[in-house]
Amino acid sequence: MAEASGEEYLFKIVVIGDSAVGKSNLLSRFTRDEFDHNSKATIGVEFQTQVLEVDGKEVKAQVWDTAGQERFRAVTSAYYRGAVGALVVYDITRRITFDSVKPRFSISSDILIFRNQNAAHCDTAVTRMLVGNKLDLESIREVTTEEGTELAEEEGMFFIETSALDSTNVNKAFEIVIRDIY
Ligand code: GTP
Ligand code: MG
Repeated sequence: MAEASGEEYLFKIVVIGDSAVGKSNLLSRFTRDEFDHNSKATIGVEFQTQVLEVDGKEVKAQVWDTAGQERFRAVTSAYYRGAVGALVVYDITRRITFDSVKPRFSISSDILIFRNQNAAHCDTAVTRMLVGNKLDLESIREVTTEEGTELAEEEGMFFIETSALDSTNVNKAFEIVIRDIY
């Protein structure tokens, strides 16, 4: 679970999903209220820390932003260890990014690491949130809200649609995960 030191709690959360779905921008929106129209693909992993108050206690979320590009897969999965929360992001305007969510759960080593690790430590399950990003691009949407809801239900995850560009639901996505862990 979370590491508690005095009144402070530290949670490790990972953000995963295909390249260019908006993982880095969701994180920069959450931690710095910034958006980059020309953001570069993440190389490997980076993390940001954000302090929140939950029930009057200070909670530190250490959010790890991983590279979506396939060639970094071996590197990024090594960083999932110890995570208690995960945001699994797809782009509502590109069905291919939604289709790759499910294989990530059933066959990819990424998520098997989560599951094995939990089984081994008899830990509580990793709190997972399915995130359909780029909600501002509704006019070119390829994945319906219902499809997202259904997949999340099947997988026992939370579900939310966000826009890192106009800020819709970004804080909420992280806060739901953090509150559930807490
Ligand atoms: P990798 O680091 O390669 O895994 O990609 P990523 O998932 O971190 O994507 P990133 O945040 O770098 O965003 C990719 C592109 O999508 C950039 O051009 C962003 O400006 C754009 N983008 C991200 N979020 C949104 C959003 O909510 N709406 C719109 N319209 N564009 C977005
Ligand atoms: Mg990135």
